[in-house]
Amino acid sequence: MSLMPKAVKIVEVSPRDGLQNEKQIISVETKLALINGLRDAGVKNIEVTGFVSPKWVPQLADSSEVCAGLVSDDSVTYAALTPNMKGFEKALAAGIKEVAVFTAASESFNQKNINCSIAESFERFAPIMSAAKEAGIKVRGYVSCVLGCPYEGDIDPQVVADVAKKLVDMGCFEVSLGDTIGIGTPTAAADMFRLCAEQVDVSQLALHFHDTRGQALANILACLPLGAAIIDSSVAGLGGCPYAKGATGNVSTENVVYMLHGMGIETGIDMDKLVATGRDISKALGREPNSQVNKAWG
Ligand code: HMG
Ligand code: MG
Repeated sequence: MSLMPKAVKIVEVSPRDGLQNEKQIISVETKLALINGLRDAGVKNIEVTGFVSPKWVPQLADSSEVCAGLVSDDSVTYAALTPNMKGFEKALAAGIKEVAVFTAASESFNQKNINCSIAESFERFAPIMSAAKEAGIKVRGYVSCVLGCPYEGDIDPQVVADVAKKLVDMGCFEVSLGDTIGIGTPTAAADMFRLCAEQVDVSQLALHFHDTRGQALANILACLPLGAAIIDSSVAGLGGCPYAKGATGNVSTENVVYMLHGMGIETGIDMDKLVATGRDISKALGREPNSQVNKAWG
């Protein structure tokens, strides 16, 4: 039976995933212009920054300043990455109402990315989960390397499903499945998603596919009939993980929204404004949008 959704929730990750990997310095004003452009285009969920170590990710050292400049809008959720209590406390002080913890289905990747094992990452998340509950903050969970790892190669999809379940059991309201290095193909993506949906309610699962090998849209399409209705994407295809060599941007929001609208699936996003936002940030970075739909749009 097809569970094809009628509407999809887009989680825009460009201000965080998109900009964390940039070599050049990007001003707080440029970041806020990107976030405001997305909001104006009707994007309701925006991951605005990460409260991570500035030694590890210098590009996000301005996270508190970015949050201080956010336009308050009750219809929009501004979220931020928080790897540990220190990050959570900073996010709370900055007025963030939704945070995301992140771990992986690969031990080697976790060591490189957050300097701890998968089991240790859960120990770090435990105090965040209870502090968040007390403060009324929602916690999202990420699983990286769901379709392959830059250090370990193939990843057992059962491990992905187990990690996803553990995150939900700890209190995450949603789990985002990251193909960090954009290595998966549609049948693998669908098999992995199906296995996760056996352990976690399908309404709590998000797709976070990087487009390194041009497979992201096909992989999303393979998961839609299985009930996938939350998609992470990045305007102009910005993105990449500094701890996954060769990992390029997330699937572009323009490509995803164009495909969904063409299929009669609603997103609430205005394509003209989205495209303009993708062009503005690309211009600020001195490059063409990494999105075919953006380039072809009138
Ligand atoms: P560590 O070095 O093991 O941490 O890093 P530590 O607790 O030993 O602290 C070392 C220093 O960092 C101390 O400062 C701490 O105060 C400071 P010092 O005493 O040396 O001056 N520190 C912090 N500063 C600011 N904010 C914090 C923080 N925590 C410690 N939150 C840590 C561990 C987790 C902090 C580090 O490994 C880290 O920040 N990693 C983040 C890496 C990252 O951001 N990666 C990219 C995002 S994940 C991703 O892109 C994947 C995703 O998109 C999904 C997908 O595509 O698969 C989500
Ligand atoms: Mg990512």
